[in-house]
Amino acid sequence: MKFITVLGARPQFIKAAPVSRELRKEHEELIIHTGQHYDANMSDIFFEELHIPKPDFHLGVGSGSHGKQTGDMLAQIEEILLAEKPDYLLVYGDTNSTLAGALAAAKLHIPVVHIEAGLRSFNKKMPEEINRIMTDHVSEYLFCPTDTAIENLTNENITHNVINVGDVMYDAVVYNKKLANEGSEILTKHGLESKQYHLITIHRAENTDDEQKINNILEAFNKIDELKVWPIHPRTKHKLESYGLKLDEIPNLKVIEPVGYLDMLTLESNAKKIITDSGGVQKEAYFMEVPCVTVREQTEWVETLEGEANILVGTDVNKIIEAVNKEVSPSYKLVFGDGNASRKIVEAIRK
Ligand code: UD1
Ligand code: UDP
Repeated sequence: MKFITVLGARPQFIKAAPVSRELRKEHEELIIHTGQHYDANMSDIFFEELHIPKPDFHLGVGSGSHGKQTGDMLAQIEEILLAEKPDYLLVYGDTNSTLAGALAAAKLHIPVVHIEAGLRSFNKKMPEEINRIMTDHVSEYLFCPTDTAIENLTNENITHNVINVGDVMYDAVVYNKKLANEGSEILTKHGLESKQYHLITIHRAENTDDEQKINNILEAFNKIDELKVWPIHPRTKHKLESYGLKLDEIPNLKVIEPVGYLDMLTLESNAKKIITDSGGVQKEAYFMEVPCVTVREQTEWVETLEGEANILVGTDVNKIIEAVNKEVSPSYKLVFGDGNASRKIVEAIRK
């Protein structure tokens, strides 16, 4: 069978690594990189360290408004699909690259395989929510990471070829955690000691595009005394610059460039707490049993909220501070599969 996989953003490279490895054992796969993420530390680094095969097509779309970015991708992906005639088109998650790939294929009657299907925040102001809903509704195979995702799809009358295989990000963590522990020098590089710092990642449009919200988040960081390490996403860096907001006056804050996946796993597993608005990072905090504080109003990853493994605080200054300072002792469950999601996906398609 011939697959075309569309990738474009950092978390998609990470999700694709275990799936590509399995898929290529029995199928042909071509990769289209849309170019949505293009900085070396947002893209190339993941292909290199996770040994993801080099993209066969690079669209070079880059940054832009939603319509322009998605439209440019759509037109170029369509041309490739017409020429290559794949049996399946494979997409991950909920970015503009996901939507463009799914839409281009569905209109050409090429079956769409959606990995990480069925997630919902029930907030249509998030671009990700629109991308997920649209992609799920044009997909032929919907591989869900959790039972909640299955329920969400059932509620939208999507029940055909909907399978809970577990989370491919869990596969990636299981595969790479040991490598990260053995190989990463990120703690020494930044003079960090295990469990003596909080790890921060903030990049979602709902926070960074709202000056009040990002101000609140920074105010909270100002009042958290402990050492904080923040690999900053380029979107956040640019937005802070445009608002004239500076991070150098926040006490005990180390702002660093985005890091590779193995360094990130090391930063996560050694953090005292993780403060984030990232979808992937919330899950990784759970996988590594590091308490998480999520700076958003909703989360799609509701399983992580049980027992305060993850505390959802929105952008209220005091709520952020209280949650970060709170002593929690969560118990963690195996709700994201058994680390074999990628294999199960390939098996399900074979059947
Ligand atoms: C995108 C996804 C988001 C996902 C995130 C993962 C959409 C709508 N959003 O958000 O769901 O959580 O990726 O990281 O698809 N930029 C650079 N260099 C890069 C990439 C981006 O400087 O390599 C800057 C540009 O200023 C750009 C901004 O970041 O305008 C936003 O990039 P974009 O890809 O539009 O969205 P993300 O915020 O990265
Ligand atoms: N990540 C990384 N380096 C960083 C920040 C994040 O490798 O500096 C990884 C992280 O471990 C997770 C993924 O990127 O696997 C999450 O991507 P991101 O937060 O950009 O997007 P989201 O998951 O919110 O869509």
